[in-house]
Amino acid sequence: MTQSSSPLAGRVAIVTGAARGIGLAAVRRLVADGASVLAFDREGADFAASLACATADAAVIPYAGDVSREADWDEAVAAALALTGQIDILFNNAGISGGFENLLDYPAEAFDEVIAVNVRGVFLGMQKVGRTMQQHGSGVIVNVSSVSGFGGGGGGIFAYVASKFAVNGMTKAAAMTMAKHGVRVLAICPCPTETEMMFQLERKVSPDNPEAARPGLAQGIPLGRYGKPEEIAEVLAFLVSDRAAFMTGALVPVDGGVLAK
Ligand SMILES: NC(=O)c1ccc[n+]([C@@H]2O[C@H](COP(=O)([O-])OP(=O)(O)OC[C@H]3O[C@@H](n4cnc5c(N)ncnc54)[C@H](O)[C@@H]3O)[C@@H](O)[C@H]2O)c1
Repeated sequence: MTQSSSPLAGRVAIVTGAARGIGLAAVRRLVADGASVLAFDREGADFAASLACATADAAVIPYAGDVSREADWDEAVAAALALTGQIDILFNNAGISGGFENLLDYPAEAFDEVIAVNVRGVFLGMQKVGRTMQQHGSGVIVNVSSVSGFGGGGGGIFAYVASKFAVNGMTKAAAMTMAKHGVRVLAICPCPTETEMMFQLERKVSPDNPEAARPGLAQGIPLGRYGKPEEIAEVLAFLVSDRAAFMTGALVPVDGGVLAK
């Protein structure tokens, strides 16, 4: 198997939640490997940072939409297909943490919102993009789960935990049906990662000095620190490449050892 410096040259990807955090790091990494990316985020206004990483061979196309809306997926898929007629990669990354309450205090509306983005959004992406991948007989879908998809997480992010267990199940179920069509389906499971999602939690835990909350929040991570978005993107680059051609249905921890405990 040969490995060029642009292992994804000519390929087209959709990345959701692309405006910042893990999604933005993924856009940059995929473009660096030669893929053109449709960058899908509901924060439509500012894609300047991601656009700045486009190259002569790899485009970055912003798409402002909501992953929980079916019509937005139809538009996004059409825009991505306009590039080469094929979508090779889907990084189903958009997600929200929702409230930090436990079961008895969790507002039903907030629960619905988390499920809409983290479960319905991932489902719609897999279905809409999976259909065109199946027609072409190839493609890779990588969903973003979490270490919260494996345990109760202390109980205080109730809907988030529910949503990530669902992502794990959907990943495995989709992998089973898509394998015979040449489509691989995987999930990456990060632990706390240096993005706005964790910074939000730090502000909640320690409003006057958010950074002071970090050692406590990182305490349960054997490698002793949060992950970096680029470290998630690095694993993504491997999973979507031909180097991972025999991997499907796996829930891949990128978690500093959390799930080994
Ligand atoms: N940061 C962490 O500690 C951590 C840990 C484990 C898993 N994750 C998962 O990683 C993924 C990315 O999170 P992040 O840390 O980069 O968070 P983030 O909050 O920094 O970025 C999330 C992005 O998703 C976008 N988004 C949210 N809802 C959307 C919707 N309905 N439609 C389109 N875009 C939407 C936001 O606008 C934002 O740009 C999420 O699925 C999250 O659950 C994060």
